Amino acid sequence: MDTKTPASPNVVQGESERKVFQRDPNPHIFRPISFRSVTARNRIVCSPMCQYSATDGAPNDWHFQHLAARAVGGAGIVFAEMTNVEPRGRISAGCLGLWNDDQRDAFARIARFVKAQGAVAGIQLAHAGRKASTARPWEGGKPILPENGGWQIVAPSPIPFSEGYQVPQEMDEKAIAATVAKFAASARRAREAGFDVIELHGAHGYLISSFLSPISNSRTDRYGGGFENRARFLLEVVDAVRSEWPDEKPLFVRISCTDWMEGGWDLESSVKLAQVLKAGGKVDLMDCSSGGVDPRQKVNIHPGYQVPFAAAVRGRAGIGTGAIGLIYSPDMAEQIIASGQADLVVMARAMLNDPYWPLHAAKALRAKIPWPKQYERGDIF
Ligand SMILES: Cc1cc2nc3c(=O)[nH]c(=O)nc-3n(C[C@H](O)[C@H](O)[C@H](O)COP(=O)(O)O)c2cc1C
Repeated sequence: MDTKTPASPNVVQGESERKVFQRDPNPHIFRPISFRSVTARNRIVCSPMCQYSATDGAPNDWHFQHLAARAVGGAGIVFAEMTNVEPRGRISAGCLGLWNDDQRDAFARIARFVKAQGAVAGIQLAHAGRKASTARPWEGGKPILPENGGWQIVAPSPIPFSEGYQVPQEMDEKAIAATVAKFAASARRAREAGFDVIELHGAHGYLISSFLSPISNSRTDRYGGGFENRARFLLEVVDAVRSEWPDEKPLFVRISCTDWMEGGWDLESSVKLAQVLKAGGKVDLMDCSSGGVDPRQKVNIHPGYQVPFAAAVRGRAGIGTGAIGLIYSPDMAEQIIASGQADLVVMARAMLNDPYWPLHAAKALRAKIPWPKQYERGDIF
């Protein structure tokens, strides 16, 4: 082929003729997908991303523009950041919450607008556990002790996350039950605010994750010890949330598929957990992240480094998966979905970098997707 000849719309030219291949005219990442009665227009997800910009846990104009822009930019699902079920569950004083009705009402405006742009409005419910009470990243991100304006933190066991962190208060069974009930109350408010999908944050060393991992959970009661006991808190949260979350709406769970630590939570445990969740019929997708439980972790980071976790969980547990982690090239995203490694590609930093990533990816993949009517005249490049 003469490489100077302009390519046909569905042919991509690589560095040499041997790399010329046919484009799929209907790329997999732009195919709709349904979970229960909720359909996303494509497989591209704006990952929950803390903005550390809330006052008293309520979203404001910053959160509105952040989530609105990603919905306008074409994402299939737009997740509001880690939203905590109680004040002491916040990473920082600027983190979001859904423990009162004022917060719910502020979220309702955002969910309404996101949906009006054709995206599914999602929210991630969370509790930061032993990683709570820190400064915002741009203020150094260090732990703030109660005597310096922080607050008492809680965890499955009195093991601090790292040097300089508080020793968390060990939760007794009463505190565990109360926290489970708070997840349910936040799920009710998420429903009332108009969200269509909830993701439970069971990753990155926060409260649910810290129950799962043997590194942060040294309990000897029914919430610690073997796999079943360490998974109990998450399963109770799933049941409680489902009691307030309609059957027709999907529930996702994000976990850290490995702690990247000797003796920590690993992929085998993740597959086992996915099998339990699949059998329970209450969870629709596992969002497969990793790490964050222990700062001594050794992670080999490279583009798509967590995709094998999504593939293994999907293949062995038969549950839907989301792939996350250094996915930014449209070709890589397309290949992940086309090859059946995941149902969704979840993106954080690529979406921060470019809220219109889906519109631009469509261009790169030579796919035609509608632009917002107001912006159609910008579709010129
Ligand atoms: C600014 C920022 C905020 C984040 N906040 C959250 C969050 O609220 N919940 C969560 O599960 N992960 C959070 N993460 C992690 C991302 O969701 C994602 O797992 C990680 O950045 C890797 O994906 P990426 O390579 O696409 O950025 C955050 C990441 C960034 C960059």
